[in-house]
This record gives sequence, structure tokens and C-alpha cells, in this order.
Amino acid sequence: MAQERTLSIIKPDAVAKNVIGEIESRFEKAGLRIVAMKMMHLSREKAEGFYAEHKERPFFKDLVDFMTSGPVVVQVLEGEDAVKANRDLMGATNPQEAEAGTIRADFAQSIDANAVHGSDSATSAAREIGYFFADDEICPRS
Ligand code: PPS
Repeated sequence: MAQERTLSIIKPDAVAKNVIGEIESRFEKAGLRIVAMKMMHLSREKAEGFYAEHKERPFFKDLVDFMTSGPVVVQVLEGEDAVKANRDLMGATNPQEAEAGTIRADFAQSIDANAVHGSDSATSAAREIGYFFADDEICPRS
């Protein structure tokens, strides 16, 4: 499987719980490399643009409220089959359904405050990475 990149966000609930390092450690132990990273407090405009594909869904306002409620860590992970590898580490969107040992099972409390975001396909990853990072902010190490 080829080397790939994916966008990961450590969401406001996990930042508030002070588990940034524990989550990063899981990515690194699984062989994913952090090749870009920034901490930021998203504006409503930035969060709404990021989640634009969900704007007709009933939870859209709650999602934007939550994602703008505190700082997040936005990062690019690189490695073999990175999109799937990251989603396997994250676990199901609803932490109640997440497999034991996944990030959401261990650190998330609800479907809205669910600790992490990960791109769901290579196409989404390309769009999402470009939404947050310029090419010269990404430092490949492979
Ligand atoms: S996914 O990850 O795209 O397959 O999941 P999906 O169910 O389509 O959800 C998309 C994002 O919306 C968030 N979400 C919610 N937020 C608030 N309230 C409710 N009820 C809710 N349901 C889903 C979910 O965490 C997904 O966020 P991201 O950042 O993409 O993981």
C-alpha cells in the first residue's frame, strides 16, 4: 500500500481533557508520522466551511458550536494507508459503538464531543489538508 496523507483534528473536548500527547502517541506507535501541525481556535466561518457537506444535517449547528467552543489541534498524518489507519485508531463516530482500545472509546463521551476527526477518503483528505495547510507548511519525512 502506498504512502498516503490524512487530516486529523484533536477536537475541543480532548484538548480540554489534556490528552493531546496520549492521542499523538497512538498515531506515532501505529507508524503514522505527524508532518504538519497547528493549534487554533476555529472561527464559525472556518468551521462552517470545513463541514459544508453537512450543512443540511440537523446536527450542523451543534457541530459548529462544539468545534468553535475551544482550541483544536489540526494536523496532517502521513504513512501507509493513512486514511484507514487513522480511522481504525479513532473508532466509530459514536463512542458508545467504538471498539475497545480506540481513541473514541477511551477519550470521547458522546457523538458530538467525540475527541477526534479523521478524513474519510483520500479525496476528502486532499481537500481538508488544503483547507488548513499551505504546501510549505507540510514537512514530509518519508
Ligand atoms: S462520519 O465520520 O462523517 O462518517 O460521521 P457522520 O455521522 O457523517 O458525522 C459527520 C460529523 O458530524 C458529527 N456528528 C454530530 N455532531 C453533533 N451532533 C450530532 N448528533 C452528530 N452526529 C454526527 C460527527 O462527529 C462527524 O464529525 P467529524 O469531525 O467528521 O468526525
